[in-house]
Amino acid sequence: MEDLKIGRRFFLKSGGAAAAVAGGTVIPIHNANAAAPAAQATTALPYPKKAVGKAGGMPINQVVSFTYPDASSACYAIRMGSAVPGGVGPNGDIVAYSSYCTHMGCPVAYDGSTRTFKCGCHFSIFDPENLGQMVTGQATEDLPRIKLEYDAKTDSVHAVGVDGLIYGRQSNIL
Ligand code: FES
Repeated sequence: MEDLKIGRRFFLKSGGAAAAVAGGTVIPIHNANAAAPAAQATTALPYPKKAVGKAGGMPINQVVSFTYPDASSACYAIRMGSAVPGGVGPNGDIVAYSSYCTHMGCPVAYDGSTRTFKCGCHFSIFDPENLGQMVTGQATEDLPRIKLEYDAKTDSVHAVGVDGLIYGRQSNIL
């Protein structure tokens, strides 16, 4: 009888250990009484329309600093000099991006010699001529792209939205 009790204890302990190991695995459990999931989170607030500058006044291959969609979000606009994907303006060459690296939020700097944004913290590189694509480094996301509109009548460029999530935010509109 004592042997049987020990055997049960051993079995339960072994089973408990096995359950602990299995605890690392996610097992989906359906609870019919659980509340229905909340509606998918979305940004309900509209993006503002904000002037960036006159296209003709923007220097080629140099950044123009501005903030968007609010004063605490630094961005760069660049007139690349030739048409690029997503570019606006008379030549389709003006693009804009968030200045915060998507890895850990360090400010990126524009390198005109390589025509890339570089992050000095962990050396990620982004391509403004290809929609902010992450080229190399620790970042795994492209640089958020600021959507621009061009008004030919006034030669003015406006920021009207953001494609991608600005680093450190749960939504781009706070
Ligand atoms: S913060 Fe830019 S690469 Fe790490």
